[in-house]
Amino acid sequence: MKTNVIYCGDCLSIMKRYIKDSSIDLIYLDPPFFSQRNYENFWVHDRLTKFGFNDRDWERLKGKINPTTLRECEHIEERWKGGRNGIYVYIAYMKERLQQCERVLKDTGSIYLHCDWHAGHYLKVMMDEVFGYRNFLNEIVWCYSNSGRAKNAFASKHDNILVYKKSDKYTWHYKIPISDKYLNTHYKQFDSKGVKCRIRIDAGKERIYYPKDGMTCNDWWSDIPSLNSIDKNRLGYPTQKPELLLERIIQASSNKSDVILDPFCGCGTSISVAKRLNRKFIGIDISRTGCKVTQHRIGDVHIVGGETLKELKVMPPHEFARLIINEKLGGIVNPKKSGDGGIDGWVNFKTIPVQVKRWDQTVGRPEVDKFRTAIARDGHKQGIMVGFTFSRNSYNEAARKTVDNITIELKTVKQILEEL
Ligand SMILES: C[S@@+](CC[C@H](N)C(=O)[O-])C[C@H]1O[C@@H](n2cnc3c(N)ncnc32)[C@H](O)[C@@H]1O
Repeated sequence: MKTNVIYCGDCLSIMKRYIKDSSIDLIYLDPPFFSQRNYENFWVHDRLTKFGFNDRDWERLKGKINPTTLRECEHIEERWKGGRNGIYVYIAYMKERLQQCERVLKDTGSIYLHCDWHAGHYLKVMMDEVFGYRNFLNEIVWCYSNSGRAKNAFASKHDNILVYKKSDKYTWHYKIPISDKYLNTHYKQFDSKGVKCRIRIDAGKERIYYPKDGMTCNDWWSDIPSLNSIDKNRLGYPTQKPELLLERIIQASSNKSDVILDPFCGCGTSISVAKRLNRKFIGIDISRTGCKVTQHRIGDVHIVGGETLKELKVMPPHEFARLIINEKLGGIVNPKKSGDGGIDGWVNFKTIPVQVKRWDQTVGRPEVDKFRTAIARDGHKQGIMVGFTFSRNSYNEAARKTVDNITIELKTVKQILEEL
């Protein structure tokens, strides 16, 4: 099994396909919270790439969930006073993915599920079912105090992190090593001998020295601020978590060289910390922007596309063409969406035109012939045509020597995916 890798795709299919039973030491996941929001952001690096994920309208995903799992969860909101809002779909969706997490986790492993009030209580019930009530370890309350004040209720300023072990053999470090980052942000004073400490005003200016052999923590964490809008560590990802939070989780529940999995890794906070603390990692995110940013953040990591042929066949044609040309072939997409003259993009520094056919039926000889004309019109001598299947005649046509000496390579989508 590959480690130190980022998979791009739905974590359900990626886990099923690539991650072995009992192979992971620690899982941290920070999925959509059922927040009823649509997250959309322009990526700060270039202000061009748009990132988004939809955390509302969960009913739209009904058709993608195993009907038995969906039925099992339906009761959740049948009893609700005041109408339905699709939470049972959200819980069923999460259940399918958490069942995979349970399968891949080692007996010595544990899992941290980050959530908040929107669905936390329902997730707890579901986690008890999937991991076992007896395996519940903690509900960590992560308190922060960023701006924004509710007027009609107390301001909600905490998230919840549900922690489960897989079995009683779980890895656990009671004393958590203190990183330089934590030391520098939390122990800012010095005593008369120049030793770092912090002062507790509420206890009569009592001096507290940092525990050299590591700190112990209770289940509410109020010493880790969330990332505010001017934080220098902020990458622009709407739901980015602070590294100190992940540092504590990883230090408490794993050892060096262990494998950490984050199936909803966003811009890769857990991945970055895992790498820094000498753990192996597997990150998954459905957003290509998220995967790219993680790659940019930690450097030298391979992104493996996680799409199945079935998923690709139902993708909107422009998105499909972009995925193939940009992500898989490393080329650029023709900015003209209509009237592109049969050229969907180019590879090799704009020297080789590409045409992508997202067709269910076999691509035949006439299409190859038309593409040859488009290549000539574009002023080139080579071209690549991508399709799901090609007829024998189309291969003959592509191989035919013509007076204009244009060569065409036919590539199936399957070949491209296998090349990655
Ligand atoms: C709350 S964000 C995670 C933020 C992350 N903890 C960080 O610090 O950057 C949730 C992420 O889940 C991803 N996501 C949503 N559904 C997914 C799925 N089915 N499989 C994999 N990733 C998914 C979204 O693209 C988003 O990046």
